[in-house]
Amino acid sequence: VSWLARALGFTSINAIGVDLAETQVRRARTRSRDLSELEGIELTFETGDICERLPWPDASFDLCLCLYGVLNHIPPSRVSGLLAEIARVTRHDLIATVRSIGSTPTICVDSIEEARWFWHDECRNRLEAELQNGGRLSMDFRLFGTAELKAASNPYFEVTELQGLDLFHGRFTRDRRWNRTSKTSASFIRKLESLEERYCRDPEFVDHANHLLFVASPRPSPRAEADR
Ligand SMILES: C[S@@+](CC[C@H](N)C(=O)[O-])C[C@H]1O[C@@H](n2cnc3c(N)ncnc32)[C@H](O)[C@@H]1O
Repeated sequence: VSWLARALGFTSINAIGVDLAETQVRRARTRSRDLSELEGIELTFETGDICERLPWPDASFDLCLCLYGVLNHIPPSRVSGLLAEIARVTRHDLIATVRSIGSTPTICVDSIEEARWFWHDECRNRLEAELQNGGRLSMDFRLFGTAELKAASNPYFEVTELQGLDLFHGRFTRDRRWNRTSKTSASFIRKLESLEERYCRDPEFVDHANHLLFVASPRPSPRAEADR
């Protein structure tokens, strides 16, 4: 939050973070303790369901961040209502990252090696997995393509940026479980970076990225227009 806000020219930050899971809220509080002590930074974390009506007035936030796949966990029937609510409470931009339809596998809660097996059901938008320790998980998990993201957000947002993140790095970096001694050279990494830049908005590549970066500004609501 801090580097992004400063890079955008904000001199103070008053941010509220919301998560459905109490453990995630506690983790966020602990991890942000050092940040909260800095002058001009006020961070609050709350437990809440973002699919419900958001408890803040219209245009009460400059920015809304919805990062690392939060939208992937929202049941498809609730995404439109959530985007409408985010557009209502956001003055400037929504910045979201979501897992894309062409991304490499994940089990969300742990590294993929911790799964004995996993299965993503694209019809029911569910992720099921059994962990090495015998634990089972089952959660709402919908992968997004750029077309779905544009269609879902179009009534409420104007898209200013939609690009793929990690098209090449994750796939080309050597896997240490397979070859522990070989190293990826710095020049190869630079070449991957230039490939990322070249193809991150290419329609044939973007849906193959691990994440989609989505930046959008709310369309004026009919009520705000009428008040002008
Ligand atoms: C992949 S994690 C991302 C966490 C965090 N945004 C970050 O950047 O580290 C997705 C989070 O979305 C939360 N989540 C899923 N459905 C939610 C809902 N309806 N309301 C609030 N949070 C939700 C989950 O509890 C989980 O912590």
